[in-house]
Amino acid sequence: MPSIDTFTYLDPSKDRRVAIITGGNSGIGFYTVLQLYLHGYIIYIAGRSRSRCNKSINELKAKAIEIIDAKFSNSNTNIKNNDEIIEFNKLKNRQLGELHYLELDLSNLQSVLKAVETFKQKEEYLHLLINNAGAMAVPYTLTQDNYEVQLQTNFISPFLLTLKLLPILEKTKDQFPNLIENPRVIYLSSIGHQFASLYFNLKKQMNYKPDFIFTWVRYGIAKTAGIHFMKMIALRNPKVLCIIVHPGFVMNPNIFTYWTNLPIVGILFWCFFQIFAYFFGVTPEQGADEVTKESLNSNFTIEKNNGESFGPGGKIIQPSKVASNMDYAARTWIWTIRELNERGVVVD
Ligand SMILES: NC(=O)c1ccc[n+]([C@@H]2O[C@H](COP(=O)([O-])OP(=O)(O)OC[C@H]3O[C@@H](n4cnc5c(N)ncnc54)[C@H](OP(=O)(O)O)[C@@H]3O)[C@@H](O)[C@H]2O)c1
Repeated sequence: MPSIDTFTYLDPSKDRRVAIITGGNSGIGFYTVLQLYLHGYIIYIAGRSRSRCNKSINELKAKAIEIIDAKFSNSNTNIKNNDEIIEFNKLKNRQLGELHYLELDLSNLQSVLKAVETFKQKEEYLHLLINNAGAMAVPYTLTQDNYEVQLQTNFISPFLLTLKLLPILEKTKDQFPNLIENPRVIYLSSIGHQFASLYFNLKKQMNYKPDFIFTWVRYGIAKTAGIHFMKMIALRNPKVLCIIVHPGFVMNPNIFTYWTNLPIVGILFWCFFQIFAYFFGVTPEQGADEVTKESLNSNFTIEKNNGESFGPGGKIIQPSKVASNMDYAARTWIWTIRELNERGVVVD
């Protein structure tokens, strides 16, 4: 997999490339936004908290300038030959993208529809959709749409968001057929989808005890369904490239907050996560590097890569048998369309 620095640094005034990333205000999403911003993308950070997202936007702007300044001063002192002068001039002229906030609460279907309408009023094209936001191993709760919270956040709402944005992604492909980076959808999956390998049933809420075990099964089911929907879109909509990414074990403090904040046992969970991270973990920056590479890699083609899953180091990984099964994927698709229809949400 090529390094991030080898991907094109765009001048947004000439090459306007637009991306939406859900949950771009923290963890893996934050650093993915940083890389795309440095590469000149116009990015909409879709999140449920305006204040958290705006805070992150300010931090991202400051970080990007810091990174460019550091690179700039290093190259300035080391210039020895013509190639380095060319590199230095490229760096000097590098343009940052734009950062915007898009209101989106994935636990609310109406919020998803509203976010799509707001986006359509602002932009004509969309080159990249990253379904990054997720909830992991949280206690059993129902959303206001009456779905288990992990199922809606990790699967049902990203499904709806993607289907509603597909026409814009397809229009972008039609308008710019020669773009080297095919318009694409990225889905943040997880090795945790394997928790649904033994039992996958979308109709069951899996509200069983002990919750600290069944919460992982619910997470696994949601992420397995997410892989199904990406594989189905890859099959049904051959204009848009669909890529699934497992970013590695990213031991960031946010996603485990529920566990580490539990009274008394929280400290045990904290210790467990620290030890696990020491041996197997990667940083949010490393996780984001994977997502950025799959997002910007221009060697990916629809014919070769549509519906593929990538893991750490850009390695192709095979999802579980349940997640790879196209009969199950078709059933997941039909079930979800019917569920949405029952709630008055129509998707084609
Ligand atoms: N960490 C890992 O080891 C790991 C491994 C494999 C896959 N993943 C996947 O990678 C993705 C990012 O994880 P992360 O580790 O970066 O976690 P994180 O820091 O907790 O980020 C999760 C993001 O999702 C957002 N989010 C949660 N619920 C939402 C909702 N209802 N509406 C809109 N946004 C919502 C959060 O927003 P708020 O700030 O508003 O909460 C946050 O920005 C997730 O899909 C996760 O399943 C993570």
